Amino acid sequence: MENGIKERNSNGLMEKRNWWKEDVVYQIYPKSFYDSDNDGGGDIKGVTQKLPYLEELGITLLWICPIFTSPMVDNGYDISDYQGIQPEFGSMADFEELLEEAKKRNISIILDLVVNHSSDEHGWFKQALRDSESKYRDYYIFKEGKDGNPPNNWRSIFGGSVWEQVPAEDNLYYFHTFDKRQPDLNWENSALREEIYAMINWWLEKGIAGFRIDSITFIKKDQDYGDVPADGADGLASVKHKGRNRPGIADFLAELNQKTFNKYPCVSVGEAPGVTYDEYDKYIGEGGYFNMIFDFHYADIDVENGSEWFRKTDWKPKQLKELIFESQNAIQKVGWGANFLENHDQPRSISKYIRDAAYQNEIGAKALGTLFFFLRGTPYIYQGQEIGMKNFKRDTITDFNDVSSLDNYPRAMLEGFTAEESLAFVNQRSRDNGRTPFQWDATKNAGFNEGTEPWLKLVGDHEEVNAADQVNDPDSIFSFYKEMIQIRNHSPFKDTLIYGAFRPLETPDDVIGYGRIGDEVIQILVNMSNKETAVEKVSGAILLNNYETIEQSGTQSLLKPYQAIVIRKDEENV
Ligand code: NOJ
Repeated sequence: MENGIKERNSNGLMEKRNWWKEDVVYQIYPKSFYDSDNDGGGDIKGVTQKLPYLEELGITLLWICPIFTSPMVDNGYDISDYQGIQPEFGSMADFEELLEEAKKRNISIILDLVVNHSSDEHGWFKQALRDSESKYRDYYIFKEGKDGNPPNNWRSIFGGSVWEQVPAEDNLYYFHTFDKRQPDLNWENSALREEIYAMINWWLEKGIAGFRIDSITFIKKDQDYGDVPADGADGLASVKHKGRNRPGIADFLAELNQKTFNKYPCVSVGEAPGVTYDEYDKYIGEGGYFNMIFDFHYADIDVENGSEWFRKTDWKPKQLKELIFESQNAIQKVGWGANFLENHDQPRSISKYIRDAAYQNEIGAKALGTLFFFLRGTPYIYQGQEIGMKNFKRDTITDFNDVSSLDNYPRAMLEGFTAEESLAFVNQRSRDNGRTPFQWDATKNAGFNEGTEPWLKLVGDHEEVNAADQVNDPDSIFSFYKEMIQIRNHSPFKDTLIYGAFRPLETPDDVIGYGRIGDEVIQILVNMSNKETAVEKVSGAILLNNYETIEQSGTQSLLKPYQAIVIRKDEENV
């Protein structure tokens, strides 16, 4: 396939062919994937050793969360050397071996690019603190306080002020969008930007396939650094108001693209929260800053504000449907999407989206898989999703590791919730839910290692939920995912499922239905409720079904609770 050739599909849509549109991505949180040296934490060699499993599943691209040198305050999203490998993950030689071994299996690798901030242990920041005359002072954001208070009232994403006082200097503060040990880099400084571009190109020259770009919409702040009306009981206002996707960011992002990604045959996927649909064109349109961005509009359907878990919503399947349709339609107009159910910042999808606990099992997992996997865009599978891993339940806050869980707990109490209620919010939403050790088998520590206490407590259900039991079971969630990948990437319907247009279907409120239109019409129907629901009679070849049959009744078909089907429509009946 030639890259970038535009073709008109039978729906009349011009679609450009690109290799990364055909990929199926698997996201690895290396600390929790496989602990090859039995020290309690996962590592790069662990990923290499598990490549046969990933090949069996059928994925083609790995996104590996940060493996760079780091004090690990935010598990690697705090980098102290962008060109070094964190020793607990291994060495550069281990990474090169992984690249090579993956390539032999036709799997390419993208890394996580964290350039909104560094660690406070980065050499630049240490020099900036040590010497006010150093050029590195301007690599970060330092400001004077106001009347004994921080320079403004912005709240960081992980809670508390975005400002931290510089220890040796009265009335001087530095800025951090996230934790105080993650000082923001000052993108206004062109020398800093050039250093970042050189680093990115160094990695691309090494042969990686591209980057997932972390928190990139935070790199531009309103330069007035003005106060904002408080939006919480702590008297502060979220940094999002004046520090996310702000005017002027276009110049930084266009330059980033021109000086790095655009020069290589690589893929870039932006974590770009806060971008509205009418701006998607600039982000992912022709000549946009990135090839695709993650859309969080429906990932956060269960909470009013993605980072404040005590603001829960009582969402209904109809809303989820509307959000998915809106997202797909908006993306289809301008570019390409990055579809996901889970990632390392989200709870497990069956625990979040399947509201009846009786279906938080293989039926629910397969229904959700079907729902997201065939949307137009590149699918991203998060480790453990393919075997139906679920949320845990912790009895005490001390069992949590995630910085944002440790912040949300006291914040919920400050907002008036009891300790018990606050713990329940954290249990439900904690980022640790997706970070528990991967459940390889039913043995001690779920086969994550040879027995050393893992860095984070297991979910505890690995006797029922584990990869070893599922790999050879044709009815397992793993086999279902494998089949979805086969159908999307290797069946006669490949072109329609990858490049075909997205079209919403009219169905009852609780059923989410859509079509993919190419040389044939493929329909996806997912009952997102625990009630049997009638839909217009389905006709055509059933390509996938999470139940054994589909019940037909007169002019209708009856979808069982959380039943999901994929149908190739008969030609005379589209
Ligand atoms: C987004 C990442 O996905 C998250 O895990 C991290 O804590 C923040 N960015 C800060 O880097």
